[in-house]
Amino acid sequence: MTLELIEEPAAWRAMLDACRTKGQRVGLVPTMGALHAGHLSLIRRAAADCDVVTLTDYVNPLQFGPTEDLAAYPRDLDRDCRLAGEAGAEVVFAPTTAELWPESPRTSVRVEGLTEVMEGSSRPGHFDGVATVVAKLFALAGPCWAYFGEKDFQQLAVIRRMVADLSLPIEVIGCPTVRDPDGLALSSRNAYLTSDERGAAARIYYALLAGKRAIEDDGVDDPQLVSQAMADALAAGAHFELDYAEVAHPDDLTRPKRVQGEVRLLIAARLGRARLIDNIAATAPGPTEGGIP
Ligand code: PAF
Repeated sequence: MTLELIEEPAAWRAMLDACRTKGQRVGLVPTMGALHAGHLSLIRRAAADCDVVTLTDYVNPLQFGPTEDLAAYPRDLDRDCRLAGEAGAEVVFAPTTAELWPESPRTSVRVEGLTEVMEGSSRPGHFDGVATVVAKLFALAGPCWAYFGEKDFQQLAVIRRMVADLSLPIEVIGCPTVRDPDGLALSSRNAYLTSDERGAAARIYYALLAGKRAIEDDGVDDPQLVSQAMADALAAGAHFELDYAEVAHPDDLTRPKRVQGEVRLLIAARLGRARLIDNIAATAPGPTEGGIP
C-alpha cells in the first residue's frame, strides 16, 4: 500500500472507518511532524501491532503559550511523509488549522491534578491544548490503538487519564524513549542546540541516572534528597537552568512522601534556546527476600 496524504477530517474518518469495516486494526501515531527516530520507533511498533497505521502531522497551536516557539517550530511535510512511509505508515493526516477547526474551538479538555505540576506549572494551558487536540484526533480516528512516547511522560499520563475518564474507545500504548548513543533523548527541540550545547546536553540523562542510583544503590527514600542528587549532577555540568527535578508516582504524578516501589524521575532544564525534558523509571529496593519473619 502506498502512503496516502489526507488533509480533510471527514476523508480521514471515512478511510479509517472503511479499514475497521474490513476487520483491520488501526494504529494511530499522533505527532507534530519534524519526525525523528523516536517517532519512527512508534510507527514501527504500531506497524508490528496493527493492520493499518496512520500518523497525524499537525502543529497544534492550542498547546503553545504566547511566548513559545509556534512560528519557529520545524515543519517539513514531504520529509515526514517519506520517513513515515518507510517506517510502515500507510496514511498521514495533515490538516490545516482551518480544516481541523473551521471555527475557533470553545471546548477545552482539562485533566485536573495531573496538569498543574511540572510542565503544567512552567507552561500554563499547555496540557489543556494537548488534551483538546488529542481528544479531537481520537474522535475523528475512531476506535484504534494509539502510540505515544514515554519521553513526554506527563503527556502520556494525561492522555491515559483522559481516555479512562471519558471511556474513549482507544488503547493507549506507551513506548520507550529513544536516545542518542550518549543518552540524550531524541526530541524535535534538540535542533535548537548549538554544537557545544549538544555536547553537554546528555548531562540531563546522567542527572536522572544519579537519581536512580541514589534510590536503587544507596537506598535513599527521601524524595527531596533524590531531587537534590539530580540537581547536583546537573549543576556539575554546563550551563543548564534547572526548571524541576522531580520524583513522582508513575500514575498520578504526585510526589510520594517516601520512595517505595516504582517511581518516575523527571527533569526539565533550559540549555541555551532549548528547553529539554527527560525522565526514567527507578525502583526502590523491596524488602529482602525471605524478609524478617
Ligand atoms: O507529543 C506531541 O507531539 C504532541 O503533544 C501531540 C500529542 C501530537 C499533540 O499535539
